[in-house]
Amino acid sequence: MTPVLEAKNIVRDYYLPGGLFKQAKTVHAVKGVSFKVEQGKTLAIVGESGCGKSTLARIVTMIDPATAGELMIDGKKVDIAAGDLTPEIRRKVQIVFQNPYGSLNPRKKIGDILMEPLIINTKTPAAERQELAMAMLKKVGLQEIHFNRYPHMFSGGQRQRIAIARALMLNPRLLVLDEPVSALDLSVQAQVLNLLADLQDELNLTYVFISHDLSVVRYMADDVMVMYFGEAVEYGSRDQVFSDPQHSYTKTLFAATPRADVETIRARLARKAAAAS
Ligand SMILES: Nc1ncnc2c1ncn2[C@@H]1O[C@H](COP(=O)(O)OP(=O)(O)OP(=O)(O)O)[C@@H](O)[C@H]1O
Ligand SMILES: [Mg+2]
Repeated sequence: MTPVLEAKNIVRDYYLPGGLFKQAKTVHAVKGVSFKVEQGKTLAIVGESGCGKSTLARIVTMIDPATAGELMIDGKKVDIAAGDLTPEIRRKVQIVFQNPYGSLNPRKKIGDILMEPLIINTKTPAAERQELAMAMLKKVGLQEIHFNRYPHMFSGGQRQRIAIARALMLNPRLLVLDEPVSALDLSVQAQVLNLLADLQDELNLTYVFISHDLSVVRYMADDVMVMYFGEAVEYGSRDQVFSDPQHSYTKTLFAATPRADVETIRARLARKAAAAS
């Protein structure tokens, strides 16, 4: 099967201009990283702050161009720098950010936030737009009465549900989730993770899931890539990476993190296996 996402040797340099007392500098944020994700699977990207996770997320989401390397979505090469991205390919990849407070326009009602992608990208008639937005609200565990409320009237967890709903309005193939639960309370984290897991099963979505929290990664991931200073120092199935970490950075990272609830993980894996058969 053609992977939904394939990245080959992605490089991203940032050029910082010099000043009177400062030398110009190049930051090598991502140094040649390759990976692929099959449909319905989750690749988790883990690593400490500044290792290049969000940079990679922006490249995969086609927000930022890579300095070098190749990005394929559904087997089709995409080149942001060439400016030839079709709305069709942009639609396929959506992103959910960490901060549920900053990512929703405070002046817009939830219904309008959800309908906006349809207005911009499709010719869906108004009545149908409203129906689709209402249906999506329910899908993410909210209610029709929330349609006319403003973002400030919601909790962090609810806002993240809204951000997920918005990302799903155009029926994407791939969701890039950049620390989607890191700003939430632990109990709320679990609810949002369960929602993401259910949506993945139901819609056969592919996820790139960025996190610095290994217990979350263990719960969500099929494959794991560990990044360290812009490089992938570890890449393999979740079981491989967790049971036999190769790189000294990964070993330290794993040693520092408490073990996750094994039963929850087993239950999710059993559900996934059952859904696949
Ligand atoms: N627009 C930019 N201009 C210059 N340097 C940048 C820019 N964006 C990121 N960087 C640098 O690139 C490196 C990787 O940053 P990135 O945001 O991808 O890390 P991250 O892994 O997402 O970190 P965190 O866990 O803190 O979110 C860092 O050294 C950062 O300072
Ligand atoms: Mg980041």
